[in-house]
Amino acid sequence: MKDIFDECQFGELNLNSRIVRTGTWETETEEGGFLSPAIYDKYEKIASSGTGLIVSEMFVLDHKDRFAPYSSSLNYLGFVKDYKMVTDICHNYDVPILGQLAFFYYDDGENQKAEPNDLKIEGIRKLQAEVIMAAKKFSFAGFDGIQIDMGNNFYLARFINPYFNQRNDQYGGNTENRVRIASEIIKVIKKTMDMHVSIRINPWDVRKGGMTAEESIKVAKELEKAGADSIQLTARTISYLYDGREKNPFLVYADELIDSLEIPVILGGSLRDMKSMNDVLNHSNVEFMSMSKPFVAQADFLAEWKANGEGESICQSCNNCYSKKTSTCFKY
Ligand SMILES: Cc1cc2nc3c(=O)[nH]c(=O)nc-3n(C[C@H](O)[C@H](O)[C@H](O)COP(=O)(O)O)c2cc1C
Repeated sequence: MKDIFDECQFGELNLNSRIVRTGTWETETEEGGFLSPAIYDKYEKIASSGTGLIVSEMFVLDHKDRFAPYSSSLNYLGFVKDYKMVTDICHNYDVPILGQLAFFYYDDGENQKAEPNDLKIEGIRKLQAEVIMAAKKFSFAGFDGIQIDMGNNFYLARFINPYFNQRNDQYGGNTENRVRIASEIIKVIKKTMDMHVSIRINPWDVRKGGMTAEESIKVAKELEKAGADSIQLTARTISYLYDGREKNPFLVYADELIDSLEIPVILGGSLRDMKSMNDVLNHSNVEFMSMSKPFVAQADFLAEWKANGEGESICQSCNNCYSKKTSTCFKY
């Protein structure tokens, strides 16, 4: 029987459990501000309570590319110093941590909001160089790897999506071509740095002419072929929690994706209690599960689950922490 608190391997990384605290923004440091003691304290609680792997908040390459004013750039003054302290805290508890890169816009030097079809080859090279440098900067700060967000509607998700990409060069057309921008980045990072590379992708796109579930499996295979170490799916409400009869389409997709890959896949979204999570683990191919809002509501809730062998998050899924962009719980 699988259990969320099993110690396990995640690529080259050893995890204390199957639980991933997924990317959750928490700072606004653009004015040169530094991390507050409360944030170090939060990381200490998350790392010490039974979490297997942590993904940082999202960072952008340039503050103009941010998804929300509240998210942070890799280039704020204290980044390496502040985050070295965060990664040290996690490592004190043998918890690996990945730095997340997620940019919504991209400035190619000519256009601050250059869309995938507009990028010239020089723009592609600039983007790739900047992502590779971001991985280097994460490594300076002690991160065990980088997670590149190619899910939701982030820039690279649009780049690989046929709905947005109509390029007719080697970066457009078939799946391999559209994913090439990322494959080339992954190859360089894996060749030059000792960093885990995780990619966050969408299971499918609801837009007509967008990425299908079938193609997103092909995308994951291309990423794996390039050297990616893990895949994380973006959230879809997991109301499917296995009830012994029928699986929700997202879980059917996840099962197929996991079957198609050698590398680990993280599944998450709306997971709130230990029993249902263990049910999913034991009735599907899923091995790693992520949570965000439960950690916002109570950073160290896993310690109670582990001690009691059961538990349910106090998070009410009101989503205020997300919609107000403050990452603080409005109820607790
Ligand atoms: C306050 C808040 C901040 C978030 N920040 C990020 C982020 O920085 N990067 C990311 O990939 N996802 C982010 N997300 C999405 C979560 O990673 C997760 O996919 C989503 O909340 C669903 O999981 P949950 O039901 O366990 O919260 C955020 C979510 C919340 C609620």
